[in-house]
Amino acid sequence: MGVHFLIWVSVLKAYGSFKCVYKIELYVMNDLSDKSEQKYSQRFFMSDQSVFAARFWCERTLGNRNCFTTVSLIQKTGSALRQCGTFCILPGNPWKQIRNMEFCLYAWGANSYGQLGRGDAEDLSDPRRLGRLGAMPSVPLRVLRGGGGHTVAITEDGEVWSCGQNHRGQLGLGHTSDVSTLHPGPALKQRVVNVSCGWDFTLFLTDCGQVLTCGSNAFGQLGVAKTSTHSAEPVRVESLGEPVVSVAAGLRHALAVTDSGCVYQWGLGLLTHARRAVGPNSVPLHFNSQVPVRVPGFDHVTARTVAAGSAHCVCLAGGGDVFLWGSNKYGQLTTNDCFSTYPALLNRSLLDGEGATHVWSGWTHLVAKTESGKVFTWGRGNYGQLGRTEPTNHSAVLQSDDSPVVEDVKEVSFPGKVDALYGAEQIACGSEHNLAIVGNRLFSWGWNEHGMCGDGSQTDLPRPQPVSALRPVVIGCGAGHSLALCAVAW
Ligand SMILES: *[C@@H]1O[C@H](CO)[C@@H](O)[C@H](O)[C@H]1NC(C)=O
Ligand SMILES: *[C@@H]1O[C@H](CO)[C@@H](O)[C@H](O)[C@H]1NC(C)=O
Ligand SMILES: *[C@@H]1O[C@H](CO)[C@@H](O)[C@H](O)[C@H]1NC(C)=O
Repeated sequence: MGVHFLIWVSVLKAYGSFKCVYKIELYVMNDLSDKSEQKYSQRFFMSDQSVFAARFWCERTLGNRNCFTTVSLIQKTGSALRQCGTFCILPGNPWKQIRNMEFCLYAWGANSYGQLGRGDAEDLSDPRRLGRLGAMPSVPLRVLRGGGGHTVAITEDGEVWSCGQNHRGQLGLGHTSDVSTLHPGPALKQRVVNVSCGWDFTLFLTDCGQVLTCGSNAFGQLGVAKTSTHSAEPVRVESLGEPVVSVAAGLRHALAVTDSGCVYQWGLGLLTHARRAVGPNSVPLHFNSQVPVRVPGFDHVTARTVAAGSAHCVCLAGGGDVFLWGSNKYGQLTTNDCFSTYPALLNRSLLDGEGATHVWSGWTHLVAKTESGKVFTWGRGNYGQLGRTEPTNHSAVLQSDDSPVVEDVKEVSFPGKVDALYGAEQIACGSEHNLAIVGNRLFSWGWNEHGMCGDGSQTDLPRPQPVSALRPVVIGCGAGHSLALCAVAW
């Protein structure tokens, strides 16, 4: 067994909304003279948060003697590098801001397909640590994501582990049987750096910017024109001309952003919505293609990341602009249209005039964090997924008074601030529930029918509530389940 170090670094100076780059180098040495043995480094882009966590894994055994570790904090402002400090830690005698920690995966919520990785199919309404059931990843996880009934974890080494529903091959394991404990694989010859899960398909992003997909292709959501209804082996999406930096899987559609900031869309999941919206006119190609098609409307902006709901699309561009398109049934687009075929810019005045730094999406609700750390939610709120008490704004329903039809009623819920989430370091949206890390604590809110909020009940939570005493490091949600890598002191 190796040793995990969780390093909490307090940044003493406030830099406003300026972005600083911190580089942390962790050396693991046998003795004072041996400086080259092992070196792990990672870059952090930070805004003005005061605390962040760095995760390292030292593979070599750190016994009680002859081992020590130095941590260098190097601050980069513009092109200047400044060494802020070098700290020593001795196992068993940690420096006060550095503690020895073990990372443990916790999972809870819906478990019909074994997506909690516990070897059974019982829902869990409180976070439970995943015991060792056969193989487990031996390095910390960097990404946790879930789909309709599956779970995918990506390790710091770029390996993929998965479990849960696999009837369309969404785990990429080469077969279509459900798997109820975390399994390694597929062997991809490339390091995976990120993942996004649709309902029953999966998008992997590799370190060289390739997109690999597996699972259902019933709506062309794998981005490869000629395959059959599904693929249990990851296939490469060929037609993205340059490296991809962000991927997002919706229910049955997919989005990607390339290095130069272009946005691509594929999958037919929104086609019927789009057809209904444009009437006799032809549907733009990006709603009607099984291979990636460039989404028009980003000519003068550089897209950075994408997120996807069940029937809407989100893109965060440089400068903090948020673009929204697709279905507006629940006010996801913050406009009055029922559907938008082209990306519409979110009016910043709805976010207190600020640009966004992060955007997340559930199936029908959205969450954005602004430059100053405020968190706004909008869209559907019927399960409490907006985390705020104001009722959904039904006064703007687009429907004539004499019509009793409730189907296709358009709800309008404008972005509203959730004070309890101010400064959230991470947020993850399930279909209708959410997790957040705020000030090193885990919060949950929204739909709770399967216990996915982790408070021991099955009652929806209309406002963010702290989840037990877990110290979360990485969080992730599937449609109805929750995942958290937590630091456990030893
Ligand atoms: C994974 O991708 C999402 C969406 O682009 C992004 O917000 C997140 O930071 C990425 N995670 C990592 C560890 O790169
Ligand atoms: C954004 O909203 C503000 C306040 O409602 C309004 O004055 C402004 O015209 C809007 N901007 C655009 C581009 O629609
Ligand atoms: C609800 O919508 C109406 C019509 O768009 C608007 O005038 C009103 O200010 C909204 N109320 C809230 C609380 O957002």
